[in-house]
This record gives sequence, C-alpha cells and structure tokens, in this order.
Amino acid sequence: MRVFVAGASGAVGRRLVDLLVEAGHTVWGTTRRPRAARMLSAKGAAPVVVDVYDADALCAAVTQAAPDAVIHQLTDLAAMDFAANGRLRTAGTPNLVAAAAAVAALDWPAGTFNVVDDEPAQGTTWVPAYCRALGAPAPPLDADAPATGRPISNRAARELGWRPSIASWRSGFARQ
Ligand SMILES: NC(=O)c1ccc[n+]([C@@H]2O[C@H](COP(=O)([O-])OP(=O)(O)OC[C@H]3O[C@@H](n4cnc5c(N)ncnc54)[C@H](OP(=O)(O)O)[C@@H]3O)[C@@H](O)[C@H]2O)c1
Repeated sequence: MRVFVAGASGAVGRRLVDLLVEAGHTVWGTTRRPRAARMLSAKGAAPVVVDVYDADALCAAVTQAAPDAVIHQLTDLAAMDFAANGRLRTAGTPNLVAAAAAVAALDWPAGTFNVVDDEPAQGTTWVPAYCRALGAPAPPLDADAPATGRPISNRAARELGWRPSIASWRSGFARQ
C-alpha cells in the first residue's frame, strides 16, 4: 500500500514508519524540520516537509503521493501547550482531512469510525498484557484505575464491511 503518515517524525510516527517500511509499504512521512526529514529518509520513507496549517502545500503533497491510506499522528504537546494542541486538532486536522478527501480511497460516509480491534478493554486490563509482551514491569494500579482507559467499539466500521486483521489486542501484542 501507499501510506501517508502525517506527524511521521513524532514518538509514535517514527516507530510507525519503521513498521510500515518493514512490512513493504511505500511510505511518505511529514515533518516541518529538515533534520527530521533526513531521519525519515534514512528510514526508507519519502520525507514531506510541510506545516499542517499550510492547506495548499499539504493538499499538493498528499495529491502527489496519491496514498491508499492517510494516517494522522500529529500533535502539539511537546511544550505542554494545550491551546496549541487544541488548535492543531480543530484547525490543522481539517486540512489533512480535506487533503485526504481529494484522493479518497474509501467511499465511507462522513462520520467518525473507530478503526480498532474487536475487543474493547480498559487500560487496567490491556496494560499488564502489553507490559508482559514487552518484557517490562507492569505499572502499579492507582485508585482511579477502573475508570481509566477508553474502550471503544468498531461497530460503525464493521457495518461498512471493514474487518480488523488482528481481532484482539491479546493476540496482537503477543505477535509484536
Ligand atoms: N506518545 C504517547 O505516549 C501518546 C500517548 C497517547 C496518545 N498519543 C497520540 O499519538 C499521536 C502522536 O503523538 P506523538 O507522541 O507521536 O507526538 P509527538 O512525538 O509530539 O510528535 C508530533 C508530530 O506532529 C508534528 N507536528 C506538530 N505540529 C505540526 C504542524 N503544525 N504541522 C505539521 N506537523 C506538525 C511533529 O512534526 P515536527 O517534526 O514538524 O515537529 C511530529 O511529527 C497523537 O495523536 C497523540 O495524542 C501519544
């Protein structure tokens, strides 16, 4: 597949690029920084130096890449500036969505679709399994633990015929 990763230079994006390249996908990765562009190049991705607020440049880059999938890993929390992060999500994300829509590979209706596995779980359930898979010690559970985590359903995507390739985080973590 041709995959466009917005925010490819971030903590999640960098690892994602490695996994996508390793799996044989053709990957484009964005950053605003020339130095990070060189890092992405070295990983085997085509670097795209663009600011998400530059809607025209972003649209041109996505159109040129003509990806099958666009992955959003942008965030602006490095300085713990929540207002900046909010702006990125409310003003930046729509630019990425518009750019992706110009080359849309999916004909799903507008809306929110959780692309997740079939087993929604609280953090208190999946974090220990994740730590075991990594060979890392599990963090202590705090008093609020039962209320944490964001178990979300993939029902809307399933109704459109989508199926996860890995049905549960249990088998997914074990495979990693
Ligand atoms: N890391 C975690 O522990 C964690 C936990 C929960 C959720 N998440 C979620 O995972 C996603 C990725 O987070 P992360 O931790 O990987 O973030 P990160 O390390 O802070 O990386 C942020 C990415 O966004 C890019 N970016 C920021 N502002 C931009 C702008 N105006 N235009 C273009 N690119 C911009 C950065 O590119 P530059 O190279 O240009 O700076 C970088 O690639 C986010 O949705 C975050 O909420 C992360």
